[in-house]
Amino acid sequence: MSVRSHSKAYECWLTYAPLEDVNLVKQYQEKFKIVLIKGDGPVMESVREELKAGLKGILGIEAVITTDNNQDATVLVMKTDQEPVKSLLTDDEIRKLAGEGFLLKTTVYEDKEVIIVTAKSERGIFYGTFRLLKQLRMGKDLSHLYHLSNPSSPMRMINQWDNLDGSIERGYAGNSIFYKNNELTENLERIKDYARLLASVGLNSVVINNVNVHQEETRLITDRLDMVKTIADIFRKYGIVTFLSINFASPVELGGLDTADPLNEDVKKWWKDIVANIYAEIPDFGGFLVKADSEHRPGPFTYNRDHADGANMLAEALEPYGGILIWRAFVYNCLQDWRDTKTDRARAAYDTFMPLDGRFKDNVIIQIKNGPMDFQVREPVSPLFGGLKKTNQILELQITQEYTGQQKHLCYLIPQWKEVLEFDTYAKGKGSTVSKIISGSVFPQKYYGFAAVSNIGNDENWTGHTLAQANLYGYGRLAWDPELSAEEITDEWVRLTFGNDPEIIKTISRILLKSWETYEKYTSPLGIGWMVNPNHHYGPNVDGYEYSPWGTYHRADHHGIGVDRTVKFGTGYAGLYYPENAEKYESLEKCPEELLLFFHRVPYTYRLKSGKTLIQHIYDTHFEGVEEVEEMIRDWQRLKGKIDEEAYLHVMERFNIQLEHAKEWRDVINSYFYRKSGIPDELNRKIY
Ligand code: GCU
Repeated sequence: MSVRSHSKAYECWLTYAPLEDVNLVKQYQEKFKIVLIKGDGPVMESVREELKAGLKGILGIEAVITTDNNQDATVLVMKTDQEPVKSLLTDDEIRKLAGEGFLLKTTVYEDKEVIIVTAKSERGIFYGTFRLLKQLRMGKDLSHLYHLSNPSSPMRMINQWDNLDGSIERGYAGNSIFYKNNELTENLERIKDYARLLASVGLNSVVINNVNVHQEETRLITDRLDMVKTIADIFRKYGIVTFLSINFASPVELGGLDTADPLNEDVKKWWKDIVANIYAEIPDFGGFLVKADSEHRPGPFTYNRDHADGANMLAEALEPYGGILIWRAFVYNCLQDWRDTKTDRARAAYDTFMPLDGRFKDNVIIQIKNGPMDFQVREPVSPLFGGLKKTNQILELQITQEYTGQQKHLCYLIPQWKEVLEFDTYAKGKGSTVSKIISGSVFPQKYYGFAAVSNIGNDENWTGHTLAQANLYGYGRLAWDPELSAEEITDEWVRLTFGNDPEIIKTISRILLKSWETYEKYTSPLGIGWMVNPNHHYGPNVDGYEYSPWGTYHRADHHGIGVDRTVKFGTGYAGLYYPENAEKYESLEKCPEELLLFFHRVPYTYRLKSGKTLIQHIYDTHFEGVEEVEEMIRDWQRLKGKIDEEAYLHVMERFNIQLEHAKEWRDVINSYFYRKSGIPDELNRKIY
């Protein structure tokens, strides 16, 4: 495989590096001598390639891979209804396996031990193959291997915010691997390697262009469809279905109609013809993703229609082909006046979509960002989760680190996402967590699951910061199984990327697991968010968005800071949750402190549970944040000579940038609040 010639950083968690333990290698070599793989087609072809490459890399063997029944086979890879595997499974196992799930088990066949990789679909076999190679790379004992795993949801998507000119909206790892100068890139092999990475963690669909669909990208559904077809052909080999972001105004911009009104018959017909043509070219095309009436994108509001009218019209066109229409809930007024304290951006998605619950067709999915604002380092969970009861929904996360250090800073997001997933909405009593809602077990939904904005580009290591690969890996693992713990995911990723040395695992895991809180400490305090430079969103600027129309205010003055979102005195946002959460958020005393300034306006002298005043807390956390970065660097330095030198130096370089910029954050924030409050630091540290 081409990938073998790349650097370690390029190969990410699929390095397939030789196992360190020679005894184990010997044992494994015996077990993987002859692999019987049944089935044809593009996905099975990839299974063969992957096993070959994996066994060669990890065990240093050219395994015999055969398609004919061979009594000496030691590994059997095939669907559940194919012999000899069929006879080696119990009814219970077959019943338990879902369409995309897989079973790995060690059992006895022809009087000898064999390992089975089986599933009901080729995609499932593929996931099982990756899992098996992972077990090998992690040095797991295979003699009692038994692993039956089903994905928690059918939608496990990645969203590319790539533009045809090769730029990536909010991309921090180079340019697009897909497009350049409005054409496909020459390096299609790289798209294939990306597909491998995604499939290896169980992701099964991709949206291949930015949600902001500009002029060139609008044409992907018409005269540029050939590009989509080429990309879809590559992803298909890895069981990944291709979707497109579309421009709601396409009938006007491309079709020459004078309206894009979703209830207009000509508009409906125009979309039906477009969709028919797409499916003629790409029969397994996934469907559309739409950002409408949001940040100046066109939408149904122009025609006095609502979002159900808009979404359903497109869904109807897709329906005959089994296509899906994904509609984003990220809708708000981005032309607000900062003096208006009643309009609250945090309420907007809820106010727009709740009245529509139950009106969407059953092939429509609403894609909801985790928080009500916009991917800040800390936000409460969107109240639409639990709110919407009769609507298919997926959670949208942002892997690309727009507001979390732009892949210059280390910010491992799995702990943040775990908090979102574990949040109890109380929609159907205790235990109605976000994780359960998007696993389809709280409300009846046809489609549910995950989407996330990718963090990759054409940098050699894909993600700019090599440790940011862990965010992509972890996202895929959570999308497969949201109940996995952050610790488990981290352990796996470190082993697959850096090997099985316990000291290395411990050190890197510690660095990763702490990094989100560290980042939070030296940036904006207690859930208030923003305070970044406008447009590019990197670096501190406390008032950067304070007088802008974007609805993102902290409202700091010389008395205090925070947004009153209570029902009693504020915007009423706190009341959008079920009573258990609403009461907590409404109360200044009961509100979780990490979200205090999101929900309340608080004087600088307010005493927190720690006994510290708010202002002292701001000073302390900002000093601590920088100290923690210094500690991470000291930890990292202990790895010198123990891990790959290139990775070591690269990460060190990023840490140095992070440290400088963390200091800048600390100083800008502390000076601002010292100046506003006039209250000095109790510890007399240097504040400018
Ligand atoms: C953020 C981001 C935009 C993006 C938008 C979205 O606001 O800054 O670049 O387009 O989210 O999710 O649509």
